[in-house]
Amino acid sequence: MMRAANFMGRDIITARNFGRRELEFIFDAADVLQRDPSPALNSMRGELVGLLFFEPSTRTYSSFSIAAQRLGCSVTGFANPSESSVTKGETLYDTIKMFEGYGARCLVVRHSMMGAAQFAAEISDVPVINAGDGSREHPTQAMLDLYSMRKSLGKIDGLRIGILGDLKYGRTASSLSYALANYAVEVSFIAPEALQIRPEVAMYLKEKNLRYTVQSDLKEAIANLDVLYVTRIQKERIPDPTEYERLRGLYRVDLDLLKGAKETLKVMHPLPRVDEIPSEVDGSRYASYFMQAAGGLPLRMALLKMVLGGE
Ligand code: NCD
Repeated sequence: MMRAANFMGRDIITARNFGRRELEFIFDAADVLQRDPSPALNSMRGELVGLLFFEPSTRTYSSFSIAAQRLGCSVTGFANPSESSVTKGETLYDTIKMFEGYGARCLVVRHSMMGAAQFAAEISDVPVINAGDGSREHPTQAMLDLYSMRKSLGKIDGLRIGILGDLKYGRTASSLSYALANYAVEVSFIAPEALQIRPEVAMYLKEKNLRYTVQSDLKEAIANLDVLYVTRIQKERIPDPTEYERLRGLYRVDLDLLKGAKETLKVMHPLPRVDEIPSEVDGSRYASYFMQAAGGLPLRMALLKMVLGGE
C-alpha cells in the first residue's frame, strides 16, 4: 500500500519518476489539506526549508514559502539571485553545501541550467525539489497542473489536452507531458515548428504509448479539446532575439477564438502570461489559471510534509 513514508527523503527532480499511483496519492493528500489544513498546521515545527532560486520566481517561490510556513517550518534562502552572493560568483556547489550546513532539511532549487537540480541532489545529503531547471523540467508544476485538471473536470483519463506555445524551451510543457503519460489521454502539441516538443519528450511518450498529435493550427485544434494548456514564449531561453520577435504573438487565446471551443473547455496556464491570453478571458467560464495556481499551495504543502517525513 502507498504511504506518505514512501516519499520521505526523496528527491523530486523529474516528473518521469512519478507513477500514476504516486501522483494520485499526492493529489488525495492535497485534497485533504485543501478541505481542512488545520491538522497539518505547525505539524512540522522546527524544520528548516531552504528555497534557493537562482532564477527569478514569484508563484513557485511564494507558494513553497507559504506552504512550508503553514506546516510550521522556518524558511531561508533567496527568491532572486540578485539578492544573493551568486552575483559575487558563488557557485551552486558552495551554496548547496552552505544551506545544508545551516541545517536545512530540504532544498527547493531553481536554476537556469538544465541538470542543476540533479547536480544539487547528487552533492546534497538532504532531499532536493526541482523548482525548474532551464528548459527541462518543473515537476511540481506538472503535479499541480494534473491536480487542477482532476479537480475541475473530475478525472484525467479520457481528456483531450492541447498544450500550446513554447514546447521547446518551456519546462512546464515537458514535465506536464511526462506526467500525462501515466493516463489514458490524447495530447495535441500545438506550436510553430520552431517551438515544437523536443525529440526526447516525444520519444518518451512513444515508449509509454501515449497518443499525441503535432499541430500548428490552433483554430483547428481547439474544437475538440477539454483542456487548453497555454504557455508563454520563453524569451530568455531563445538564443536569437530576432527569432523571438518572429515567434511572439503568433497565438492569442481570446474570446473570439474561444467561440470555436467546447463550452466546458478549461484554459490553463502556469503563469506568468505575457500576451497569449488577454484579460477579457479572465471572467469567462473557460479561465482556470488562477484556480490552478491556488492549488499549488495544498499540493506543495502535501509534498513538503511527505518529503520531510510527516504522516
Ligand atoms: C513557469 C516556470 O518558471 O517555468 N512558471 C511557474 O513556475 N509557474 C512558467 C514560465 O516561466 O513560463
